[in-house]
Amino acid sequence: TQRILSGMQPSADSLHLGNYLGALVNWVRMQEEYDAFFFIPDMHAITVPQPPQELRERVRRTAAQYIAGGIDPERSTLFVQSHVPEHAQLGWVMTCLTGMGEAGRMTQFKDKSAKQGADSAGVGLFTYPMLQAADILLYQPHGVPVGEDQKQHVELTRNLAQRFNHRYGETFRVPEPVIPEAGARIYDLQNPTAKMSKSAESPNGLLNLLDTDKQIAKKLKSAVTDDGAEIRFDRESKPGISNLLTIYSTLTGKAIEDIVAEYEGKMYGHLKVDLADIAVAQLGPIRDRALQLLDDPAELDALLAKGAAKARAVAAETLATAYERIGFLPAS
Ligand code: TYM
Repeated sequence: TQRILSGMQPSADSLHLGNYLGALVNWVRMQEEYDAFFFIPDMHAITVPQPPQELRERVRRTAAQYIAGGIDPERSTLFVQSHVPEHAQLGWVMTCLTGMGEAGRMTQFKDKSAKQGADSAGVGLFTYPMLQAADILLYQPHGVPVGEDQKQHVELTRNLAQRFNHRYGETFRVPEPVIPEAGARIYDLQNPTAKMSKSAESPNGLLNLLDTDKQIAKKLKSAVTDDGAEIRFDRESKPGISNLLTIYSTLTGKAIEDIVAEYEGKMYGHLKVDLADIAVAQLGPIRDRALQLLDDPAELDALLAKGAAKARAVAAETLATAYERIGFLPAS
């Protein structure tokens, strides 16, 4: 069987609808036929300051949401990045393979460092994509299921894998990004030309997986829509309605054109009310299950420890090969 790997940063109390529709839904589907590795990149999260107690809690919360969203820890390998030290070790190797200019072109770095001021942004923000390359290459996956915003990092990973293979001999599999057709980019509900992200300007623009039913319904019903009344998909002139149609389609599995046909002649409000019901029905049970899992942190920690042991066996083997190819003197 082929292998996949992916992860989501534990840098907020809750995952959001973009994480869910752009990534998690796809992970759950793919774990059925792939040997799947899902991890929690806590080392990526500290590229911006994280209060220690919150970071610990958020790692558990992220794990709980993976499982509640459908990741089966018996079938898939679920682990925390910092539990597998090979990530940092191969991360350094990847950093040494990357050009300054190449790293400077990463758009996530440019966005985040612009927000913090280029001089005060941590160096970790700059080297972060090289750690991500290590995260991926350690497990020799065929595919990396992510939303569209991560495509550039997977491209860099491919380049680094090829560069390493060329310089030191065939070592890493060159992975493919796996980007869903629908849901690859979910936009802010209040500002539907910006992608949904935890740093949303208005809290109402961000739909969290752990929101209450009331919050979910309210945020969807008060989503910004466009002038006019016609329900159709048009990202340019109708970004708000197009985003709601994307969410509707991804949650239900219905094609956008079928939804458009169903709502022909109806008003925006109809679509919003129905979408609110659909979202509450689907997300509510995930939230409840996640909160229930969080009642037993010891159980979660035990699951993560088991996952780390499985992950480490794979990662250590790849790292040993890479070290040997590089020419590091064996320790024994
Ligand atoms: P992160 O934590 O920002 O996002 C996690 C996943 O959610 C997707 N996503 C979205 N999809 C659709 N619409 C949106 N508005 C939206 N926002 C986020 C992302 O594309 C991603 O799939 N660097 C990664 C974490 C990472 C990683 C890795 C991923 C670290 N190492 C190795 C894959 C493989 C990140 O910051 O994702």
